[in-house]
Amino acid sequence: MVVPSPGHRAFLRSICALAAVALLAPCRAAEYTQKNISSAPGYKLLPGVASVPAPIAVAPDQDWWGIDGEWNTFSLLVGQPQRNVRVGVSTASQQIWTVNYQACIQNVTDGTGKIVEYNKLNSDCETSRGFVYNQTASQSWRGKGYYRLWIEKWLGYPGNGLFGFDTVGLGQAGEKGPSVQNTTVGTMVSTYFWTGHIGLHPKPTNFSVFEDAVPSYMTSLFQQKSIPSLSFGYTAGSRYRNNIVQSSLTLGGYDASRIVRNDLTFIFAPDNERDLVVGVVGLTANTSTKQNIDLLRQKDLNMFIDSTIAEMWLPVEICKAFEDTFGLKYDNKSNLYLVDDVLHQTLLAQNPSVTFTLGQKYSTDATMQISLPYAAFDLQASPPYRGLQQKTRYFPIRQGANSSQWVLGKTFLQEAYLTVDWERQNFSVSAIDWTFGKPQELIPIISPEYAQYEAPRHPKKPLTSGAVIGVALGTGFTAALILVAVGWWFWRRRHKRKVEEIKARYEAEVAAAAAAKKATPEAPDEPPTSPIQESESGTGIFPKAELPGESAPHHELSTNPKEKDPMSINEADNTERQIFEMPGCIPERQEADGRQLSEKESMVVRERIYNGVDPNTPDASPTVQEAPRRLGPISPSEVTMVNGRLPGNANVSPITPRTPRDGAFLESSDTFFQLPPYRPRQDGRPAEDTLLSPISPLEGSADSSRRRFSYES
Ligand SMILES: *[C@@H]1O[C@H](CO)[C@@H](O)[C@H](O)[C@H]1NC(C)=O
Ligand SMILES: *[C@@H]1O[C@H](CO)[C@@H](O)[C@H](O)[C@H]1NC(C)=O
Ligand SMILES: *[C@@H]1O[C@H](CO)[C@@H](O)[C@H](O)[C@H]1NC(C)=O
Ligand SMILES: *[C@@H]1O[C@H](CO)[C@@H](O)[C@H](O)[C@H]1NC(C)=O
Ligand SMILES: *[C@@H]1O[C@H](CO)[C@@H](O)[C@H](O)[C@H]1NC(C)=O
Ligand SMILES: *[C@@H]1O[C@H](CO)[C@@H](O)[C@H](O)[C@H]1NC(C)=O
Ligand SMILES: *[C@@H]1O[C@H](CO)[C@@H](O)[C@H](O)[C@H]1NC(C)=O
Ligand SMILES: *[C@@H]1O[C@H](CO)[C@@H](O)[C@H](O)[C@H]1NC(C)=O
Ligand SMILES: *[C@@H]1O[C@H](CO)[C@@H](O)[C@H](O)[C@H]1NC(C)=O
Repeated sequence: MVVPSPGHRAFLRSICALAAVALLAPCRAAEYTQKNISSAPGYKLLPGVASVPAPIAVAPDQDWWGIDGEWNTFSLLVGQPQRNVRVGVSTASQQIWTVNYQACIQNVTDGTGKIVEYNKLNSDCETSRGFVYNQTASQSWRGKGYYRLWIEKWLGYPGNGLFGFDTVGLGQAGEKGPSVQNTTVGTMVSTYFWTGHIGLHPKPTNFSVFEDAVPSYMTSLFQQKSIPSLSFGYTAGSRYRNNIVQSSLTLGGYDASRIVRNDLTFIFAPDNERDLVVGVVGLTANTSTKQNIDLLRQKDLNMFIDSTIAEMWLPVEICKAFEDTFGLKYDNKSNLYLVDDVLHQTLLAQNPSVTFTLGQKYSTDATMQISLPYAAFDLQASPPYRGLQQKTRYFPIRQGANSSQWVLGKTFLQEAYLTVDWERQNFSVSAIDWTFGKPQELIPIISPEYAQYEAPRHPKKPLTSGAVIGVALGTGFTAALILVAVGWWFWRRRHKRKVEEIKARYEAEVAAAAAAKKATPEAPDEPPTSPIQESESGTGIFPKAELPGESAPHHELSTNPKEKDPMSINEADNTERQIFEMPGCIPERQEADGRQLSEKESMVVRERIYNGVDPNTPDASPTVQEAPRRLGPISPSEVTMVNGRLPGNANVSPITPRTPRDGAFLESSDTFFQLPPYRPRQDGRPAEDTLLSPISPLEGSADSSRRRFSYES
């Protein structure tokens, strides 16, 4: 990866400054300068680390676009010359996606149907899709080929994309953020994904089994030292809130000013295509007439948080509960819950709110709640979304056939803030703090490669009387024990001496007697053995018993280098074991991890059940088939390996069922873009135009003036 060295940049800057002074001319658009911080709350930098990159707040654009609702976008600069595109955020994808210009070209015809202009860009389409990217116009583009889009395939989203490598910077001209050269860019035309996105997942992309895995955008940012860790904080923004609350995206940390803190930390599910999974332990609705209506008609509801899509995909029974409660009507053609004006007025009058109670039963009893007002569900869908012919209100829940389709999309993230630490494999979901005008408060999350958690220094609390008594008793007891032991030792020594004296005397007498009688009776007069000695040679009071087999993954957390030399371990043994541990942090986490790992195994089993895999199948042990997710501190290289080389995965051909779960894989396709995405289908869906049919004017200016890249001060 070619990154200008700090020295090089400094040189450029000084040239620039000189030029500015000399010519009194404004310099070229401000280049991005890396900011580092030398301390972070809650972390202790490792020896030799003087500073770490500051987290980056990526400023949202000032506009709201989409055909499945209105969503805030973020700006990217792609290619050379740089081209500004506006994209969403995908927590599931690991790549940058842009809309290919092919999605918006058309042949212009005159009244008679004669083509008067070929392949003209439709500017409405272009604007609506967040500007298109013309890879042929970029000098830095290196084409790779056509590959399946892959993500959201569980939801039945088809399509392929033209993939390649190019330079992608965050921000836009004048407000540039860090930039990654030669990163994976997927360009697509599919209307299932209306805008491109910034993929936040750190798993690498494998274009084929024969090629090296290509690092994700996040991994590249981290490796070039632009962000302090593989982590992010994100909320989708909520236009319906009075002040038009914007989206917020922080890389390498989160924005504490946007959240209401809670104590619940979720741990990743073991599937790297479905890792941000939360348990829904309660789902209730309040309306103006009825409170606490139970909508949770499904046990063990686990939902995947994914910002790529707009809607919530819920089990059919729960959708039916929504229908019953709110009078929603399912539209068989579009598979959406379309809301007409009458229903809309009824809903406004009912003023419903829906509350999700989230937890993770197998790891904690803690729960937290996210409540969505009706406004969060009051979205507009525009053609060509799902074959609609006109702009229509819809209620953004979808019927999910099975657990692989249960997803909480952006609708949910309007009212929830998601913080994910990919390296420590945990995440949190927080309610949004709606306080207006709070200044941004970026809190860094520092990679275990740079720092370890600082044990909170508890001031020495005065001991409670119980503790005092305990300590006194303990001390007294110990003293008594010592006294007893010392006394016993002295007694034993004296006793032994006495015994020896007696023995000597006896032997002397015996010898005398023998001399007299010519006979010596052998007397067994061993000194008395202590009862403690006896039991020590017995079964053992303090057994160093090995934990049963399931504890095997815990071994990797061992801190004893002799016990486990990462280099000496056979690769076939367990891929995870090749991984180097970061020093520190480990001992205190060991116990907790042990607990969590076994809980995660139950999760694995659960997943297997949901995925229709019989857990009793021979060799289907989760520890063999699934990568045990590691919870301890790990380095980004480990993350790459964990995600890129799942045990049991590495030697599997791409057509076995295991491989698709890797998510990093892309299947090449020989065909050009699959056009049009909305073909007439057997189920009678209308044919559609891939090109944007005229939609009502988009609000928000395409040319935003207020943009800012901010860093932790
Ligand atoms: C920022 O921190 C990284 C990681 O410690 C270090 O490699 C880099 O040199 C630092 N950059 C600056 C400008 O101090
Ligand atoms: C425009 O017309 C040309 C020639 O007929 C055709 O090859 C091309 O596919 C058309 N483009 C579009 C976007 O329809
Ligand atoms: C794409 O870029 C190429 C090369 O610069 C140019 O010839 C072509 O007209 C561009 N296409 C569109 C639709 O802008
Ligand atoms: C992805 O690439 C890595 C590194 O080249 C390789 O070890 C791994 O097996 C690949 N993943 C899959 C699913 O083939
Ligand atoms: C860009 O990245 C790809 C994938 O990692 C690599 O194959 C290619 O050589 C790189 N190209 C340049 C110019 O660095
Ligand atoms: C719903 O009503 C119950 C009972 O009055 C109340 O405790 C709860 O806070 C309400 N939920 C919301 C989201 O207003
Ligand atoms: C929609 O589907 C349901 C269930 O399959 C069916 O009962 C109903 O008649 C369908 N309605 C329309 C308008 O096709
Ligand atoms: C991950 O776990 C650590 C240790 O328990 C905790 O301090 C941190 O807040 C968690 N991170 C997230 C994003 O929840
Ligand atoms: C889940 O449902 C989808 C759509 O009906 C189907 O394609 C998929 O195979 C199902 N998955 C499982 C594990 O049953």
